[in-house]
Amino acid sequence: MPEIRNITIIGAGLMGHGIAQVFAAKGYNVILVDLNDGLLVQAIKNIRSNLALMADNDIGAYKDIDPVISRIRSTTDMSEATTGAHFVVEAVSENLNLKQKVFHELDRLCVLLKLRQEQNSVTESWGPISGIHRT
Ligand SMILES: NC(=O)c1ccc[n+]([C@@H]2O[C@H](COP(=O)([O-])OP(=O)(O)OC[C@H]3O[C@@H](n4cnc5c(N)ncnc54)[C@H](O)[C@@H]3O)[C@@H](O)[C@H]2O)c1
Repeated sequence: MPEIRNITIIGAGLMGHGIAQVFAAKGYNVILVDLNDGLLVQAIKNIRSNLALMADNDIGAYKDIDPVISRIRSTTDMSEATTGAHFVVEAVSENLNLKQKVFHELDRLCVLLKLRQEQNSVTESWGPISGIHRT
């Protein structure tokens, strides 16, 4: 098992950009994926603005903003985004069909680890995927 360094986040909305920010601030290489470049540009702007607000309030430093941002790449191509990924986070819109589609695509591109959980809604999101699962 390689050391986890490369994180891919599918969906760059409220949750996705926040998760990207936390991983990048901790030194991980992050790739953010969304449907178009406009959404991705906005996500990076949001992260920059969050980090500036934190620095304004002495939580983090202004000098760290550019290094954190430089660890985040963005793309609309899920195949490119998952090549070399050690850990993938799904954060797309709350829509069952969409989530099943995304997991189906991830099943083609990655080895999936299915975490033990009890919520049906989460189980349903996985849909009929065929990859290697550990529960
Ligand atoms: N916002 C919250 O407080 C919160 C809390 C807990 C859990 N969640 C869950 O997290 C998930 C994301 O929520 P959110 O608030 O970030 O939603 P959001 O609408 O802000 O962001 C979702 C993003 O997914 C993108 N997206 C849609 N289809 C995509 C695809 N095929 N490939 C890549 N990106 C795609 C959308 O363009 C959008 O930018 C949802 O399942 C939600 O229920 C949200």
